[in-house]
Amino acid sequence: MSFKKQMEETAKKQKSDVVLALDFPYQNPENRTTLLTKSQAILEAVYPYICAVKINHHLVLPLGTFNGVQTLVNAAHDKGLLAIIDCKANDIGNTNQVIAEYYYAAGFDALIANPFVGWEEGLKPIFDVAAKLSRGVILLAYMSHKGAAEGYGQTVVDAKTGKPLLQYFSFAKKALAWGADGVVVGATVPDKIREIHEILREAVPIYSPGIGAQGGKRNAAREAGARYLIVGREITTADKPAEAARKMLPQS
Ligand code: XMP
Repeated sequence: MSFKKQMEETAKKQKSDVVLALDFPYQNPENRTTLLTKSQAILEAVYPYICAVKINHHLVLPLGTFNGVQTLVNAAHDKGLLAIIDCKANDIGNTNQVIAEYYYAAGFDALIANPFVGWEEGLKPIFDVAAKLSRGVILLAYMSHKGAAEGYGQTVVDAKTGKPLLQYFSFAKKALAWGADGVVVGATVPDKIREIHEILREAVPIYSPGIGAQGGKRNAAREAGARYLIVGREITTADKPAEAARKMLPQS
């Protein structure tokens, strides 16, 4: 089953469109094992209210992929959740392929990649590995931070038509053409979510980070067309993480 379909089914079963970003502030590396304990505790507390877990450098750097992080991927799977690695793969094809192979070997169901590197000798090798292993690829389309306007928001010239085109429109079209399982569009820019949703409709779901800590509003993102919300600090640094996660649900 495709990752896109697995997400649909997991979200339905969990009655949740929330992807937990397992992010914590820097810890002295000597105490890094506490990050694993903390992550396990948060996962245990919030799993009824989420459909997937997203992991990035916050945990890969201190814990390592095949030690701590793989334990968390397995824990997510044991709870019936999916696991996404937010590595924003962004290199030449040969390196991208190895990045994907290692993360998929660690059990991740999907990875996030940056379409700025293009297809040939860029992201194609990732899509090839993903197809072989039945895993997912999610592309950035418009990031949630202010500086995103400098890259994702710039006007470029469409190589095919020679006409001006917004960079994020171009990425949305690439997501369709390349068969991506999702795109990331910041909840901080609901107008961009709406525009990108117009292009993608139900074919490619929108994952939206930037809720709470970055100022994005969960229901505005949903109304604009976000299919899944990615939420980190609003849950991981809350006094009561389970309560914070429950409050993110569409029905709350
Ligand atoms: P917070 O704490 O702000 O964390 O809820 C958000 C999480 O999502 C990541 N993030 C992004 N990932 N495209 C991405 O692929 C984005 O535009 C984006 N903005 C934030 C961030 O690294 C953190 O893990």
